This record gives sequence, structure tokens and C-alpha cells, in this order.
Amino acid sequence: MMQTEITRLFSIKYPIIQGGLQGLGTSPLVSAVSNAGGLGLITAGSYEDKQEMLKDIEVVKKNTNNPFGVNLAIGIRRPMDEFVEGVIEANVPIVFTSGNNPEKYMDDLKAAGIKVVHVAPSVRFAKKAESLGCDAVVVNGYECGGHPGKDDTTSLTLIQKAKKELSIPIIAAGGFSTGRSVLAAIVLGASGVQMGTRFLLSKEINLHQQVKEYLENMQETDTIMVKQSIGKKARVMKTEHAMELSHIEKQGATFDEIFPYISGEAYKELITTGNLDVGIMALGQTIGLIDEVKTVSAIFEEINEEIQLAFREFLELRI
Ligand SMILES: Cc1cc2nc3c(=O)[nH]c(=O)nc-3n(C[C@H](O)[C@H](O)[C@H](O)COP(=O)(O)O)c2cc1C
Repeated sequence: MMQTEITRLFSIKYPIIQGGLQGLGTSPLVSAVSNAGGLGLITAGSYEDKQEMLKDIEVVKKNTNNPFGVNLAIGIRRPMDEFVEGVIEANVPIVFTSGNNPEKYMDDLKAAGIKVVHVAPSVRFAKKAESLGCDAVVVNGYECGGHPGKDDTTSLTLIQKAKKELSIPIIAAGGFSTGRSVLAAIVLGASGVQMGTRFLLSKEINLHQQVKEYLENMQETDTIMVKQSIGKKARVMKTEHAMELSHIEKQGATFDEIFPYISGEAYKELITTGNLDVGIMALGQTIGLIDEVKTVSAIFEEINEEIQLAFREFLELRI
């Protein structure tokens, strides 16, 4: 497997990171990704408080000797100061911040010897992260599941622009689920990729079976942008319920009318009971390239084989 600045920075085998996954980035998935040679990220937003997160971090430590990290989505309704204390207490070696400016936490995280990576939806925010002392940056393109930021820049442009303007290593996110796309990201200037949507179709993730079956049949056209009316644009799974939300937003719905669709409780019900008539779930366009639930290790093997194949095809071009 290729060695990149990112595999060296995190001491991992594959330049593949499991992105923060609200409610789903918990010990079973995180351990499986780190055991397979990628970097799993415990997603702090999945826990009610620091103690609950620390308990699950202990489970990861029991299940893998490989590096793992924690994703801190700054600005969500969770006790983020406590979570920061928690990652320092637990000697977590790597933190990915997202959502908002990580400046407030940088000194404490760096003083604890933690490698900090910020997830930025634009080159402007990526440069800001570099200036704050981040060790690497994730650039999240428009294709991604979840929040692509305001500029609607697709990964194809974003990665190359970030490579041109930054000195720290770049991790590409948004549209990466296959070996071909990992190789493409590297060619475009990234040193690794962060995947979210790909891991929704893994055996280990704690996502209700009914949702996984629904996802297996989805195409690249089966995502929809919602929450634009409240300035929190997000790409989500296209269900009747999500389309209803999009419709009422266009009709000028108030926050109180939108809230039942976007609340944390509704999302939790969707992922734990498989009821597609409540909540919305982030989903990227790359779902159109995935049609089967596999174990995380099989996903890594498949990606690796595809990288080798694509690389051989590339060499045969004899440029
Ligand atoms: C269901 C779901 C939940 C997510 N939750 C978070 C989160 O809590 N924190 C975060 O930083 N990113 C979150 N993301 C974004 C991913 O970490 C990742 O950046 C994104 O999925 C990459 O694009 P892709 O879906 O095309 O792979 C989520 C994505 C999905 C699909």
C-alpha cells in the first residue's frame, strides 16, 4: 500500500480515515477501521457526556492496538469543553475538529501532544486551520454526505486548489468510496481520503439493518440538500420525509416547523429503529457506487485491489 504524509503522520497502513459519523462513529466501527489499517474516529457527538465517550474509548483501546482518533464537531448541542478534557485524559493521539473554528481548543490539544486536523469546506477555512497550527486539513467537497459549506465547490477543484495554497498535508473528503477515487485523490494532490458514506454499508456499523438495505439500492441521484433555509445546508438521504422537509423549507417554514425533521431525537430514531418516516440522515452522492454491505476488512481489501488495478491501467498509458 502507498505511503503518504498521512500514513506517516498517523502511523497507519492505508491513507483512509473514517470520518466523524454522528451516532454511528462508535467503538464497533472505529475498532474495525483501525484494525483494518485505516484511522477510525470516535465521534464525540454520539455521546451524551464525557463519561459515556470515555467508556467507549476504553472499548476501542481493548479491541485494537492501532491508532484511532476522536472527531469533535464544534458548535453542535453537546458539552464540547468536556469532550476536549476527555480526549486529553484518555491520551487520544489524534483529534479531528469540524463545524466551527477550533482555535479555542488548539493550545490545550497541542500541549497534550495531540495531532489536530480540521475539516474545512473551503480553501479559505483550510488556510485558517493551517495558520492555527493544525497538522493536516480535510477539505470536504460538495458531493459529501453532511455539510459541504457555503461555496458548493466540488472535490475535483477543492483538492487541487488546497494543494496549491497550503503546505500541510491534505485529506480529501466528499465522494470517495472506491479504490479508483483514492488513487485519483492522491493524483490531485491529497495525501489521504476521509470516507463517511462508504462505512454506512459496513457490517460493523451500528445502523439499523433496514436502513442499510434501503441504502444498498440507492443511486448517486438519491441525495437531497436540506436545511438551506436555516443556513446549515446538508446533503442527506432522499426519503419521502426528507423531500417533505425540502418542500416546506421552500414554502418558507419557520424553525419550529422544521425542527421535528432535524432534531437529534428524530435522527436517533431513524438510525436505531430503521423508521424512514422520521429524521434525516447525511448521505453523499458516492452511495451510487456502493451496493453491498461488507465487513470493514473486506472494504479495505476491495479498495486496495482496485487501487492496484487502476494503477496498472494508468502505467499502461505510458505517458
Ligand atoms: C451519517 C453521517 C454522519 C456524519 N456525521 C458527522 C459528524 O458527526 N461530524 C463530522 O465532522 N462529520 C460528519 N459527517 C461527514 C463525514 O465525516 C465525512 O466528512 C463525509 O461523509 C465525507 O463525504 P462522503 O460521504 O462522500 O464520504 C457525517 C457523514 C454522514 C454520512
